[in-house]
Amino acid sequence: AKYNVAVLGATGVVGQTMLDILAEREFPVDQVFALASARSAGGTVKFGNKQLEVLDAEEFDWDQVQLGFFSAGGSVSAKYAPIAAEAGCVVIDNTSEFRYEPDIPLVVPEVNAHDLANFRNRNIIANPNCSTIQMVVALSPIHRTVGISRINVSTYQSVSGTGKEAIEELASQVGEMLNGRPASHKVYPKTIAFNVLPHIDVFQDNGYTKEEMKMVWETQKILGDETVLVNPTAVRVPVMYGHAEAVHIETRDQIDAEGVKALLREAEGVILFEDDSDYPTQLEEGSGNDEVYVGRVRNDISHPHGINLWVVADNVRKGAALNSVQIAEVLIRDYL
Ligand code: A2P
Repeated sequence: AKYNVAVLGATGVVGQTMLDILAEREFPVDQVFALASARSAGGTVKFGNKQLEVLDAEEFDWDQVQLGFFSAGGSVSAKYAPIAAEAGCVVIDNTSEFRYEPDIPLVVPEVNAHDLANFRNRNIIANPNCSTIQMVVALSPIHRTVGISRINVSTYQSVSGTGKEAIEELASQVGEMLNGRPASHKVYPKTIAFNVLPHIDVFQDNGYTKEEMKMVWETQKILGDETVLVNPTAVRVPVMYGHAEAVHIETRDQIDAEGVKALLREAEGVILFEDDSDYPTQLEEGSGNDEVYVGRVRNDISHPHGINLWVVADNVRKGAALNSVQIAEVLIRDYL
């Protein structure tokens, strides 16, 4: 079978990558519709070696498609996802708009593909937050084997996670500062070039940012275990593509670094750096690749049940576009 699909947010960083990945993986498409706002309607985007005309989402008739990949922001999903779902289109939503609704599956195929069984509840499937996705791909084999009681994590997140304007802001600030001029900013509240900001998404009443709380809520929902405690700090760094995370876990049953390496060597979607003096980085492994890279696996010298890991992935691919396409692949293989 072949499917008509729509990509909403097709002119954005994630949307364009969704189109690239659909083409690369030869997803069985018949017609592909590239949707964005009226601002960019009439322009074109690339799909494989073809150009697609960008259509205004406002005027789109959702009856025409079986699958919709949404990545145009929460409020845009809130507006169009129910309309599309009602018209029979299965929505795979990359925003946080529906992630915490109990009847909407939140899925990382390597971890909880079984939760897709409930997709007909609302005809909406949520794609998790980028930082959560790469973390649970690395941790779920450990959780399944010995149980994880607590996760301490600090993230090092690239600007592409914010979108196209943030990539441009970092590039122009680097130029300004190298030329001895003050850096101007509009996307981030402080200068991101040559700096790091412990601030992603909005601050909550408890002093954590929403990005940090996403890692708490989503990890528990995806692992299907609310007893896993998560203590996150999310940090934006002046990197274009790829997120890294320093992850410290406490396990229920004891396992040592060698045991963890043995699990990760076999883990789906993971590439393990075995050598203790080598490690993956955002610029290299974390840009343009599909897998989650794990290195620096070592025993926590401060805790008998502790393990440390360094986890790197491409936030635009595995953290967003690729994960959404993988969800669609399971959907058409097992359900549609
Ligand atoms: P547009 O190019 O028309 O602004 P990014 O995350 O890289 O900033 O991309 C955001 C994506 O979401 C873009 O494709 C953008 O399209 C799209 N988008 C933003 N607002 C809307 C809207 N109100 N309706 C449809 N698409 C939107």
